[in-house]
Amino acid sequence: MRVVIAGGHGKIALLLEQLLTQRGDQAVALIRNPAHVADVEKIGAEAAVVDLETASAGDVAALLTGADAVVFAAGAGPGSGTARKDTVDRGASVLLAEAAGQAGVRRFVQISGMGVDRPPAAGTDEVWSAYIRAKFAAEEDLRARDLDWTVLRPGGLTDDPGTGQVALATPPLPRGSVPRADVAAVTVALLDRPRTSGQTLDLVSGDTAVAEAVAHLAT
Ligand SMILES: NC(=O)c1ccc[n+]([C@@H]2O[C@H](COP(=O)([O-])OP(=O)(O)OC[C@H]3O[C@@H](n4cnc5c(N)ncnc54)[C@H](OP(=O)(O)O)[C@@H]3O)[C@@H](O)[C@H]2O)c1
Repeated sequence: MRVVIAGGHGKIALLLEQLLTQRGDQAVALIRNPAHVADVEKIGAEAAVVDLETASAGDVAALLTGADAVVFAAGAGPGSGTARKDTVDRGASVLLAEAAGQAGVRRFVQISGMGVDRPPAAGTDEVWSAYIRAKFAAEEDLRARDLDWTVLRPGGLTDDPGTGQVALATPPLPRGSVPRADVAAVTVALLDRPRTSGQTLDLVSGDTAVAEAVAHLAT
């Protein structure tokens, strides 16, 4: 399987690329900083340098040609302001989905976030509100497209080692956290099970093995 990952030098993305390349799949990391090429290649992935805030859908589609699936794992990240929540967390996802359609790559897994469908409470920090709005708008855009999409909404991300044990279900799950390594493992399992398409899923640490949790949803 050839999988293109947007935000390819991100923490989840690097773990995902490692899982894919270790088992013989091809991973292509879309990164914006040429200094990140070596890190990506070191784990056996291909790198393609593209800035998802300035590229056209056609530019990105050219990089997706021949792929079996795409994963959106980019994010403006902590420290960014409201403008980049819109241009990256929403805009780059919309661009990737548009490009996937143009390139004929139907399978699309979007890393979203738990609770983004709940409007922020009055008085919520402006940047956090912009983040929630951007993530939900990206989801809504994807759900409206004729693609085989799965929206994955992890809870709070940690850098703890993966446990392989998760709770994965149609929202809402009780709030919780999950290691990025387990998000990467779930993403691989979702890619392996295209019958999970059309689902929006909450993900936190739990007591079900990843393969079993995903198989249960792929009915
Ligand atoms: N933090 C949480 O608790 C939490 C919870 C649920 C969901 N999430 C979501 O999980 C996802 C991934 O998380 P993570 O921790 O793996 O993210 P991360 O380490 O912050 O990685 C995000 C990546 O996106 C890239 N990016 C930013 N702007 C870009 C652009 N214009 N073009 C191309 N790439 C760009 C960044 O590249 P640069 O290094 O060049 O900036 C970075 O490599 C994010 O979408 C986040 O919203 C987070």
